[in-house]
Amino acid sequence: MASPRYDFDNLDIDLLKARVSEKWNTFPADVLPAWVAEMDFPLAAPIRRVLENALERDDLGYPISPRNTGLPEVFAERMQERFDWTVDPRMTDVITDVVQGMYVAIDRYSEPGDGVIVQTPIYPPFLSAVAETKRRLIDNRLVSGSDGFEIDFDALRASIDERTKLFMLCNPHNPTGRVLRRDELEALANIAIEHDLVVVSDEIHGDLVFDGRRHIPIASLSPEIAKRTLTLTSATKAFNIPGTRCAMAHFGSPELRSGYRSIPRHIRGGIGLLGIYATMAAWRDSSDWLAQVRDYLQGNRDIVADFVEQRLPGVTHHACEATYLAWLDCSGVELTGSPASHILETQHLALNEGRAFGEGYDACTRVNFATSRRLLGEVLERIEKAFQTR
Ligand SMILES: Cc1ncc(COP(=O)(O)O)c(C=O)c1O
Repeated sequence: MASPRYDFDNLDIDLLKARVSEKWNTFPADVLPAWVAEMDFPLAAPIRRVLENALERDDLGYPISPRNTGLPEVFAERMQERFDWTVDPRMTDVITDVVQGMYVAIDRYSEPGDGVIVQTPIYPPFLSAVAETKRRLIDNRLVSGSDGFEIDFDALRASIDERTKLFMLCNPHNPTGRVLRRDELEALANIAIEHDLVVVSDEIHGDLVFDGRRHIPIASLSPEIAKRTLTLTSATKAFNIPGTRCAMAHFGSPELRSGYRSIPRHIRGGIGLLGIYATMAAWRDSSDWLAQVRDYLQGNRDIVADFVEQRLPGVTHHACEATYLAWLDCSGVELTGSPASHILETQHLALNEGRAFGEGYDACTRVNFATSRRLLGEVLERIEKAFQTR
């Protein structure tokens, strides 16, 4: 069967506004949302089909035990095929979502007061997970240089003490869009091994990499790093089905697995039938949709980078290597409030507040560009107009 060509250009704004998901349903109707990481595109046909079929059968009962659904095996096939990473399906758990995995990992693999390393600016739940579990945040800030964001390895080594237990990696990185190279990952892995750290690696954006890059799971580097790594990922980001709540945890050792499972399953929460089957349809049957989305997003990435360079003086931006999020440092624009609050107030455009991504990022904002070229043009023009309105 020929694969459909999806139309990402002609999105129906009324249908988008009728969505009840967070992105379209948080702000008043006159606000254009370009904040939380949801895409505006139509679903992949195989995912739609599997969900429609379930409804046609009135099939919304309990999922059978996740172990018997075949999802761990589909995950293993996918990791092998996409990332050349060999995974034993028995070393996985189907979990509710990636953020849940982060919280459980911190809770089980460290004690209150222990140090947890994160690399800011960072997806906000990394910060709340450390704060709410009463761990000590060790901020290994990414450094913005002429070539983009880099890891400060010297600062990282210097920040580790005997109570540092966890390294929370986000790769590809939200919000900077960095995709770590093999040499960078190897350097991180060596530090983790040397200091006996557990690595919790959030790789949810691994399918959304641009310019022919390939995402490298850190656990795929060597058995030494694998055995201290919990990898968290899902289909929900790349295939735009976060409402279905389903993710995968891969444990690099039986100790990590038993530690994680020492929180009873019913406290960790349940998994929905639709999430399991939507994820399988995504990973097994929706590669064609993904390829089309990635091409479109890469084009949008370029549009954003060109626009910032030509029309937003005072804004620093490094074109992202992955994700559909652009991180804008607006320090050079004179504003009274934060960029996001100023833009919301003057242009009714909702972006993310920079300060949510760590300390010292008040002058930054994050833009979601996973929308049609027309709506993206509108987003960018509203930012330009807002910066002309003081
Ligand atoms: C880096 C990162 N991790 C996790 C998530 C959320 O994942 P989940 O919905 O599975 O908790 C997101 C969502 O944007 C994300 O960007």
